[in-house]
Amino acid sequence: MCKNYFLVFLITMAASAETLKCEHHKTAEDDDWTIVLRKRTNPKRKFPKLKPSKQQQEQQQTQWAPTDIETTLEKELHLMNKMKISIEKLEKSQFFNAFLDQIHTPEASQHFLKLTQSQSKVKMVIYGIGSIESFESPRLQLSLAILMKRKLDWIGEMEVFDPIISLTESKVMVELGCRVLLVNEHGRREAVDPILFFMPHCEVELYDNLLKTNWRHDLLNKIILLGNSFEKYEHHRLVSKNQALDESRKHLLAIQEFTKEFEIKTLSDDYFRAFHGSSWHFFSVDCDTDLQLTC
Ligand SMILES: C[S@@+](CC[C@H](N)C(=O)[O-])C[C@H]1O[C@@H](n2cnc3c(N)ncnc32)[C@H](O)[C@@H]1O
Repeated sequence: MCKNYFLVFLITMAASAETLKCEHHKTAEDDDWTIVLRKRTNPKRKFPKLKPSKQQQEQQQTQWAPTDIETTLEKELHLMNKMKISIEKLEKSQFFNAFLDQIHTPEASQHFLKLTQSQSKVKMVIYGIGSIESFESPRLQLSLAILMKRKLDWIGEMEVFDPIISLTESKVMVELGCRVLLVNEHGRREAVDPILFFMPHCEVELYDNLLKTNWRHDLLNKIILLGNSFEKYEHHRLVSKNQALDESRKHLLAIQEFTKEFEIKTLSDDYFRAFHGSSWHFFSVDCDTDLQLTC
């Protein structure tokens, strides 16, 4: 009887040692797995909270809510009316016709098709729209997103985020069919499925965050990006030779050779402010490409 208990005890000990082997890390000096047994300490002892590293802090996504919590039906109706006028104006414009024609040219459409064929609906994520209450450009930019959704059957859900959106703006955007995100992703959305990112006139760090998060051939190849022209950033780099700036945009500059860009033509002064310097971007990276950061 006693012998049996001893046998069971030995087997249990061997099994726990096996578990420990898997759970503990390699020591630097020794290439073998090392079992490190912790001393039994006071079970109530709390482990000190570790401060997140700089990288962890950068990666943290923050909860967000509009800073103003006041809205009225009157304000919302007024803004909705402004949006309707903006959508109607844009829909009838030569600018919008040319915009749609460009998407349907054989040269551009093959890039859209590559991503839309595998997925019946492609989500549109809109970052940095700005204040649609205060300025015409953000209103026109949001109008463009809404019209794209209405006219292009491959566009699915629309998600919007800008930390400056007010409660009135948020409610109107929802009414117009958008989902307003409650988390500041800092542009770090992974394109696990194809995504159209609409980032009108965003700061360069936001584009760079997006690229950094998707810095793998399979993810990059799933991105359609409508935003500031990367070619113009590259041109600016060549002219200014400011290396300090290069650091904040290193992914953007490094992806340049794998990027196909189509410039948006503004055609008239009415649309210049909202869409100047904007382009469609498609990335085409082979699976055996070693993505290097050049700066
Ligand atoms: C240069 S403004 C462009 C505004 C507008 N699209 C325009 O063209 O007038 C950049 C916008 O990006 C927004 N922004 C800043 N950080 C952001 C973030 N983490 N996610 C989304 N938008 C952000 C800012 O609040 C600002 O409205």
